[in-house]
Amino acid sequence: MTARILDGKAIARELRAELASEIAALKSRGVTPGLGVLLVGDNPASRSYVTGKKRACEEMGIYSAEICLPAGAGRADIMAAVQSFNADERIHGVLVQLPLPDASIEQDVIAAIRPDKDVDGFHPISVGRMMLGLPTFLPCTPHGVLQILKRSGIRVAGTHVVVVGRSHIVGRPLANLLSQKSDLGNATVTMCHTGTRDIGSFTRQADIVVAAAGHPRTVTADMIREGAVVIDVGVNRVEDPSTDKGYRLVGDVDFEAVKQKASAITPVPGGVGPMTITLLLYNTVAAAKNSLHK
Ligand code: GUN
Repeated sequence: MTARILDGKAIARELRAELASEIAALKSRGVTPGLGVLLVGDNPASRSYVTGKKRACEEMGIYSAEICLPAGAGRADIMAAVQSFNADERIHGVLVQLPLPDASIEQDVIAAIRPDKDVDGFHPISVGRMMLGLPTFLPCTPHGVLQILKRSGIRVAGTHVVVVGRSHIVGRPLANLLSQKSDLGNATVTMCHTGTRDIGSFTRQADIVVAAAGHPRTVTADMIREGAVVIDVGVNRVEDPSTDKGYRLVGDVDFEAVKQKASAITPVPGGVGPMTITLLLYNTVAAAKNSLHK
């Protein structure tokens, strides 16, 4: 079997077209959605994500503001930047790019974001509401994965999904959303992680495998059942002197081998990545809409 390639770029375009009319409607009521992004330090991957977010906002007519602080910025400077976005009426959504150089303050910084501006869905209130199935901002990458599955016509309800990875940003919230009794979920979910013995023994039982481990070739062909659907969340830079930048992006899945076995697979790049940014725009527009009712 050769897998159908699930085109995240095309699905993202479809979603952005839907968003464009909502943005136009908001503007006609005098509201331009606005996103505030805080970047601390000079991690090249983070820098490039932030540039991508800014470009996406420009393309969609969303106002964006960026605060960049040096790697050595202290807790007080970071908190002050968050507070300035919290207080700014032009900003409906606030995003603190992770990881922070000082990981020990991440949870405090996230908790300082106004929950009604928490477009990443990382604030403890957002996480709690998500787990309870209450209306809230869903984290962008997990929501992107669910939208790829839905918009590709892949049935999730009643299937066995194995999520490889337990990060707060992807694996854990995704496993939770997939297991919820909702139109995007209702699956039986297994979560594998670095403490799992023989991950392949679990993934081989899966109808859908989501790779979100953060390492190249975590999921190889021998770990996939013939005909399974494979979603690759990984974005890893591997050295490649033949490219201009000296590196290329690969996912967590051994794409060439796995695509011979799977029924459908997301590529890297061009799979989950474009969906993440689009769902961030979606949350920013939702936050702007909510602001009309305050
Ligand atoms: N770092 C990697 N993914 C994300 C994300 O979705 N949001 C933020 N804020 N930082 C990230």
